[in-house]
Amino acid sequence: MKKLRKPIVAANWKMYKTVSEGKSFAAEFSWETSLAREVEVVICPPFTALQVVGDGLKGKGIKWGGQNLYPSAEGAFTGEISPLMLKDLGCTYVILGHSERRHLLGETDEFINQKVKVAFAHELLPIFCVGETLEQREDGKTEEVCRRQLEHGLAGVKGADLARMVIAYEPVWAIGTGVNASPEDAEKTIAFLRQVISEQWGQEAGEAVRIQYGGSVKPQNIKEFMSCANIDGVLVGGASLKADSFYEIVRGARRGSE
Ligand code: 13P
Repeated sequence: MKKLRKPIVAANWKMYKTVSEGKSFAAEFSWETSLAREVEVVICPPFTALQVVGDGLKGKGIKWGGQNLYPSAEGAFTGEISPLMLKDLGCTYVILGHSERRHLLGETDEFINQKVKVAFAHELLPIFCVGETLEQREDGKTEEVCRRQLEHGLAGVKGADLARMVIAYEPVWAIGTGVNASPEDAEKTIAFLRQVISEQWGQEAGEAVRIQYGGSVKPQNIKEFMSCANIDGVLVGGASLKADSFYEIVRGARRGSE
């Protein structure tokens, strides 16, 4: 089944890179167009750098996306960004439910669910993140937490839409710490998520949906993750900020390179 799913590697730049730094990255990112046939690559810069990064990547088969949206097409929402604005900048994807927004900005499953629905309504595909904190993990609650985030955050999404989007399993304790989950642990939780999706949204959606691992992914560990049957790619923070390390991760995500 795994062979049917194309690997997807996404860069989450978080609140890093000015416009000129984004432009330099796009210029430096070495790239063979043939790679785009093997791995889907998505770069999610800060909003301010979206245009310059999109312009720099045009024609290379690389996609780009936003890191958030507000669940409304437009309106009096000071400081927010709308799905229409992301579409206008050529975004294909949008990261939703990231743990930094859940924990630092207090986003609830219900609010994230509104965002997911609005993303689909505007033809943006969510990269939907779930993951447990260290405390939840130590309490043996990893599966319970991830199931809740999935079921509440994706409530009302049709199976056919779920099949097209991307799920990212990012254990909070592995984000930005240099301590990645072991590939065995990540595979176990990701297999569980796939099972939940099959039960709730149908077997077809469960088999088709691509599920990434995220949390301290680097060129040195990409192949171990990609060798796991249920892991279809990675969501990368720190190691996506340098063009050469991100390129190494993309190469390591090709099928057969593990
Ligand atoms: P790091 O790769 O820096 O651990 O960040 C992971 C992440 O949060 C990607 O969304």
